[in-house]
Amino acid sequence: MKLHTLLKLGVLSVLLVGGPALTSVHAAAADDETTEIGEQMDRMNRAFRELRKLAADAGSNAASLELVATMRAASAEAAKHTPALAADLPEAKRAAFTAAYREQMDKFIGVLDELAAAFKAGDNTAAAELVGRLRDVQRQSHREYKKPD
Ligand code: HEM
Repeated sequence: MKLHTLLKLGVLSVLLVGGPALTSVHAAAADDETTEIGEQMDRMNRAFRELRKLAADAGSNAASLELVATMRAASAEAAKHTPALAADLPEAKRAAFTAAYREQMDKFIGVLDELAAAFKAGDNTAAAELVGRLRDVQRQSHREYKKPD
């Protein structure tokens, strides 16, 4: 066998044996990276924690309104991106999945707008109830659109 044929075989076996191994290492690394949606969700999480402490207190309504505005901006930005889970679905299902995710985000933003109206009206009883609804939508959304940890 000529030298260059041996070299070609060598390259080929590295590709065949090493290729899949390298790909799976790369995929594992990608799982740990924060996604664009993840970044907005972290922002949302910080604001929502604070909001849950303040929501019942009428004296904090101005601060609560700012937190709702932060959550709204994070939701609107997150809606522009595709959940990581979409990549695990068959190609034919991805578009409908992403459309449903966006619709769900619109629904969530609708509740945020109701919450802003409640704070503006000084109705902290309604606000507390709406915070509970945000949690319900969050839980349902994560069940449907978030990749399991
Ligand atoms: C109170 C509301 C919410 C909070 C506090 C929240 C919080 C979080 C947190 C902390 C993460 C993990 C972020 C990371 O990986 O660093 C996350 C991920 C995620 N959330 Fe939310 N979330 C909320 C509402 C929603 C809603 C309404 C949707 C969809 C309509 C949603 C969809 C997702 C998705 C798809 C991911 C995974 C990231 C990705 O696929 O790229 N979340 N969320």
